[in-house]
Amino acid sequence: MATYRSLLLGCGPRATEHADVYREIPNMEMVACCDLQKERTQQFMDNYGIPEGFDDYEAALNQVQPDVVHIVTQPARREWEVQCAADAGVKAVIVEKPMAIMPSEIIALEKIQQASGMEIIVNCQRRYFPQFRDGVIRQIVEEELGDLYFVRASTKGNSMSMGPHTMDLLMLFLGEAQPESVWAMGYDIVEESYQAYHRSPERLLAEYWFPNDLRVVFDCDADALGTPGEESFWMHLHFDFLGSKGRLYLTQNQGYWYQKHGMAEPIHGESSWTNQGWAGQRDFTAAVAEALDGGKPHLNRFEVGKAVFNALIGAQQSIYEKCRIDFPQTFTDEQWTELREQMKAEMAQRQAE
Ligand SMILES: NC(=O)c1ccc[n+]([C@@H]2O[C@H](COP(=O)([O-])OP(=O)(O)OC[C@H]3O[C@@H](n4cnc5c(N)ncnc54)[C@H](O)[C@@H]3O)[C@@H](O)[C@H]2O)c1
Repeated sequence: MATYRSLLLGCGPRATEHADVYREIPNMEMVACCDLQKERTQQFMDNYGIPEGFDDYEAALNQVQPDVVHIVTQPARREWEVQCAADAGVKAVIVEKPMAIMPSEIIALEKIQQASGMEIIVNCQRRYFPQFRDGVIRQIVEEELGDLYFVRASTKGNSMSMGPHTMDLLMLFLGEAQPESVWAMGYDIVEESYQAYHRSPERLLAEYWFPNDLRVVFDCDADALGTPGEESFWMHLHFDFLGSKGRLYLTQNQGYWYQKHGMAEPIHGESSWTNQGWAGQRDFTAAVAEALDGGKPHLNRFEVGKAVFNALIGAQQSIYEKCRIDFPQTFTDEQWTELREQMKAEMAQRQAE
């Protein structure tokens, strides 16, 4: 079992969990961290006992020569960040979601991966949550509900902030099925704070057609039906699976309810971020080392992240074309930009009325 040396790029709030889980991963060591804001770098060195700190990513790569890089920045320069790592001979990068925003970015990342052989892992860590990774949900969906005919998947974040987690779990629960077509509508563009990076329509409602005539209504909208009392938008993850023999309803923080014909009461399983977030991130990270050791492929390997991105960006192509589109999506950066400009103009007009 090799020991892997890691560099953390970006010492913001999200990076705390990336760094903290290292205390329970014996064969990975966080040897350096890097942030443009020196005080953040220092804080991470102090809090997590990281020996070296940098404010220049390329210098950090050159001096540290890490095996693994955690890219925990806003999704503004993913291609450059990943290319620098590949050029420095890094074996695996863990890229925070979303791994891409514009259509060309996913193509560029794939080229880097193919040319370098570097693993590109997207940080949709919920796949490693105890509630999900033991396969209970997938097994109920596959084996207990009969013929699945309808799924509702929803989140209160936009399609590039919480959409990646929601689509990622949907594909996991459907046995890595990928949509065949999508018809979506969407509106509103916000260009401040978080949304300035997680660029996507603020309100998006998509109907996806999956194999075997399965319809999925996928809702990314602050007004999406949510869990009463749940305040943070990132905790609003919902799934409702309807099959010919039963139903499964699942929320991020309250658990799942599964009822089949003939069952007097639903079976309830608990779930919470508090009980799963940290352990999920630890096991997600440890699985990177396992994959590098030649063990199990990582559940969030590049092709999985790419399938998630393609499904999400396909919905934006459908909004742009104003019709149902078939996959593979063929959306371009120019069309993506035009769609944003149209939506901004429509929004300004609505506000002026
Ligand atoms: N997987 C999850 O559950 C989850 C949860 C929250 C956030 N996220 C994602 O994590 C990412 C980061 O979120 P955050 O809230 O920590 O962001 P943040 O903006 O607060 O922190 C990012 C840090 O990266 C630094 N940085 C940016 N470019 C740099 C460069 N070239 N060199 C050095 N440092 C650089 C910034 O100075 C900043 O301190 C986002 O993509 C977000 O969507 C994921």
